[in-house]
Amino acid sequence: MINSFISVIISDKGLDFVKDILINQTIESIVLSQLPQIEKSVQVPLVGKANVILSEITIKDIQVSSSYVETGETGIVVVVSGATADLSLNWRYTVSSWLVPIGISDSGTATVKVEDMQVGLAVNLTNEEGTLKLILLDYECDVGELSIKVNGGAAWLYQVEGIPTLDDLLQTLPKTVLLDETAVLNVSFVGNPVLSNSSIELGINGLFTERNDDLVPQVYYRGYDDISVSSSDLPKMIKISIHENVFKSASEVYFAADALQWILDELPDQAFLNTADWKIIIPQLYKQYPNDEMNLNISVSSPPIIEVSDQDIGATISIDLIIDVLEDDEVIPVACISVDISATFDAEIVRNSLTGRLKLKKFSTYLKWSKIGKLHMNVIQSMSSTVLKTIIIPYLNTQLKRGIPLPILNGFALKNARILYTPPWIAVSSDVTFLGDYYLRHHLAYGEKRSELYL
Ligand SMILES: *[C@@H]1O[C@H](CO)[C@@H](O)[C@H](O)[C@H]1NC(C)=O
Ligand SMILES: *[C@@H]1O[C@H](CO)[C@@H](O)[C@H](O)[C@H]1NC(C)=O
Ligand SMILES: *[C@@H]1O[C@H](CO)[C@@H](O)[C@H](O)[C@H]1NC(C)=O
Ligand SMILES: *[C@@H]1O[C@H](CO)[C@@H](O)[C@H](O)[C@H]1NC(C)=O
Ligand SMILES: *[C@@H]1O[C@H](CO)[C@@H](O)[C@H](O)[C@H]1NC(C)=O
Repeated sequence: MINSFISVIISDKGLDFVKDILINQTIESIVLSQLPQIEKSVQVPLVGKANVILSEITIKDIQVSSSYVETGETGIVVVVSGATADLSLNWRYTVSSWLVPIGISDSGTATVKVEDMQVGLAVNLTNEEGTLKLILLDYECDVGELSIKVNGGAAWLYQVEGIPTLDDLLQTLPKTVLLDETAVLNVSFVGNPVLSNSSIELGINGLFTERNDDLVPQVYYRGYDDISVSSSDLPKMIKISIHENVFKSASEVYFAADALQWILDELPDQAFLNTADWKIIIPQLYKQYPNDEMNLNISVSSPPIIEVSDQDIGATISIDLIIDVLEDDEVIPVACISVDISATFDAEIVRNSLTGRLKLKKFSTYLKWSKIGKLHMNVIQSMSSTVLKTIIIPYLNTQLKRGIPLPILNGFALKNARILYTPPWIAVSSDVTFLGDYYLRHHLAYGEKRSELYL
């Protein structure tokens, strides 16, 4: 999809899973709920008009023998067939007519087994200004001789929680996700969902943009710490693909915001930051600035280049390392070393985010300019190496720890995730677990249940 740099594909396995949750949730909310009392007049031959009252109608149990979900041009269709329900109720009737002037009445309790229920439901997904909207297209509920009619004529599956809950869940998906003080991730949906034969594909913008206080960024649910990892080729429920342009946008946003710049005035070996330590190696430095403190001004000199390869993510980073001498409250830049770094990034999944660790592969250095004469190559090399290994790579790794949050619905977490490199995409193929009712109940208001039963 155009302008979509994160794509989510829900496979038939994933759709089946969602369908089962939907059915389970629906059953759970119907069972033990009580339907309103029913009063009806029935014309009984010879006897006349009988007034029938059914009360305390309780659904004890519902069993579903088969169900399936299908996707296609007409939307998403869920069909539940061969379901049975057990009801219990109190009944009472009174008859009065000119034939039976005294009046007859009786009452009792009954259990009713409703067999062979069929429920069909068709919904569609559309993109409404970057948010997904679930629309009910059609429903049908046949219950043998008994017909359950829910308030306003909608089918019980629709009215009793299923659809509103799912739609409310979709509405909780943010359009932008706050990452840190510099950047937000644009997670607006792009285009309409593509419903194919047995899967749904969703397009998400996915690019990093500069944080702007007009935006109202939100957070994604962060998931569990430990995601089990899988190496099997078995089909998974979802596949989330991230285009390398997402990393490129991150690189540009952080570079433009001057977030890739550090002043270093502390080192494990502090003597390193005094000109006296350099007396023999760079005599000129000590001659011009005897016994002065120094610091290092490190800045990334162009947006890092990030590319997905077929086994990892490659990063090329160019750094300017300026040596400053601090003399009488003055910062005097005395030399600048350029460092070109080549690193790799092994992606992993932590919580519901794609993160990983940067590993230094190789680097090359040269002296860009100097006011203290020529520096020895081995001075340049050892200084660069120390700074890279002790400062820059560890620092970048703490920043990268947060990773890119993957678009997962509230209440769900990844399970058995697997990372696939298919340049220019990196994909996470994974199953999903449902963390349970708690999240849904906690996050969403309960819909009112009102139903009517007709005999
Ligand atoms: C739905 O409920 C059935 C029966 O309680 C259970 O076996 C199944 O694991 C549930 N499915 C999901 C996806 O929660
Ligand atoms: C379903 O939604 C898509 C847009 O996502 C639309 O193109 C299509 O016409 C809709 N189908 C029905 C049957 O409403
Ligand atoms: C849908 O998929 C099934 C099997 O995966 C295939 O047999 C069928 O031809 C497909 N239909 C369409 C319309 O692509
Ligand atoms: C986010 O992405 C959507 C869809 O591509 C786009 O319309 C919108 O302008 C983007 N927002 C920002 C702040 O870039
Ligand atoms: C660090 O060096 C950059 C040029 O590479 C310069 O723009 C910046 O002002 C310097 N920062 C400090 C605090 O000296």
